[in-house]
Amino acid sequence: MKKLIVLVGMMGSGKTTVGNLLSKKLDFNFVDIDNEIEKQEKMSVSAIFNEYGEQYFRRIEKLKTLQYAGNKNLVLSLGGGGFEDDEIRKILNKNGCVFYLKATPECLFERIKESIHRPLLRKNFSVDTIAFILKKRENNYKKAKFVVETSDKSPEDVVNKILRTLR
Ligand code: S3P
Repeated sequence: MKKLIVLVGMMGSGKTTVGNLLSKKLDFNFVDIDNEIEKQEKMSVSAIFNEYGEQYFRRIEKLKTLQYAGNKNLVLSLGGGGFEDDEIRKILNKNGCVFYLKATPECLFERIKESIHRPLLRKNFSVDTIAFILKKRENNYKKAKFVVETSDKSPEDVVNKILRTLR
């Protein structure tokens, strides 16, 4: 199987954990766009938002994603806002198998409530804020070829579901 597998979804949907595990099972490389940006900029995502603002972050996020959009044998995890761009959605849907890791706002909240590094949630961190962001984005997430429900599922369950879908 020669494939580009892309994981999209909200913060806390498990893209990084699932992506890592999935890449090992498939013996593919794994790239997490947020990590790549942090390595390149030598700054945390949160510091980039603080110092240069969200627009700047979105620009480098797009460039970084395009850099990997033609790769094969790769599992690619986008940041939560990485599938909002029309061009990115079009290219990734054309070149890869895109999976939307879906979860309820309550479940997302539980998974990320201890993490302080997410700039979009620093103010008004609540189930309602997550639900608000999800509502704005869900239409685009659903343009992924496959939707995998992850609420109440372990990362292993999600990986197995993806593998069954790919077969
Ligand atoms: C963002 C999600 C984050 C990161 C940045 C913005 C978003 O990635 O890219 O903080 O817009 O939802 P994760 O989804 O990996 O947390």
